[in-house]
Amino acid sequence: MTLPLFDTHAHLNVDAFSDNVDAVVQRARDRGVTGIMVIGIDVATSKRACELATLYPGFLFAAVGIQPNSVAESEPGDFSVIQELAGLPGVRAIGETGLDCYWDDTPLEMQHEFFDRHLQLCRDTALPMVIHMRESGDLIAEQLRRQTAVPVGVMHSYTGGLELAVQCLEMGLYISFAGMVTFKKSEDLRSVAKAIPEDRLLVETDSPYLSPEPLRGKRPNEPARVEHTLRCIAETRGVTAEYLAAVTTENAKRLFQLP
Ligand code: NI
Repeated sequence: MTLPLFDTHAHLNVDAFSDNVDAVVQRARDRGVTGIMVIGIDVATSKRACELATLYPGFLFAAVGIQPNSVAESEPGDFSVIQELAGLPGVRAIGETGLDCYWDDTPLEMQHEFFDRHLQLCRDTALPMVIHMRESGDLIAEQLRRQTAVPVGVMHSYTGGLELAVQCLEMGLYISFAGMVTFKKSEDLRSVAKAIPEDRLLVETDSPYLSPEPLRGKRPNEPARVEHTLRCIAETRGVTAEYLAAVTTENAKRLFQLP
C-alpha cells in the first residue's frame, strides 16, 4: 500500500535530472507521492522549475529564488527576473533563500541583503518562503525577528536543535525534515522531529542529495524515496505512517496554498 506523500523540497531542475524527469516523476507517483515542490537556486534553475510546473501541472510546483551560496555569482538583473517569475501560475513559493555559514561562496553581508529581498518578495506576493539554513540558525532567527512581518514559510532540511525549532514555530514557520533524520547517529534530530507539533511538520528529499536510510549513499536521491523519511519520523512519534503521511501532505497543501 502506498502512502499519500508530498515532497516539499526537490531539485528536479538540476543536471542530475536533465534527461530522466519523466521516469523520476513516474516512480514518485508509483510510491504514492501526490506533489513535489521543485526548488530554484538561481535564475536558470528557477526558470526550469517554472517550466517543469507547466509540464506537470498539479503535480510539480515551483519555488523561485537565489540560494545564498549562488548569490555572489548572480548578475545584477537576476533578482528582477525572480520577481517576474514569481508571478507565474505554477509558482507556489519563494526560495530557497536564507543564510549559509558553512560554505564561504557569498560574503555574509550580501547573503543578508538577498534574504531581506526574498522576504519582501514573499510579502509582496503572499507566497510562502523556503529557508535554507546551514550553521546559521541564530542569524536567521535574528534576521526574521527584524522583519516588519514574518512571512509564512518552511525551515527546509532542518538540522538544528529544539530551542531554535521552537523559535521558528513561534514565528509561524513549518519544519521540514530530509534524509538526515533517518541516519543512525541522528538521535538528537529525531528527538526534535518528535517534538514538532503535527500541524507544522513536513517531509522532503532535498533530491538529488542525501538519500535516506536504507538507501544512504545511493545517488541520486529522488522524490520516490521521501517515504523512508516519513516512515522513520512516524516510528519516532509512535504513529502510523499512513496517518503521518496524510497529516504532512495536508500541511504542505496548506502552506503552499494548493487545492
Ligand atoms: Ni535545496
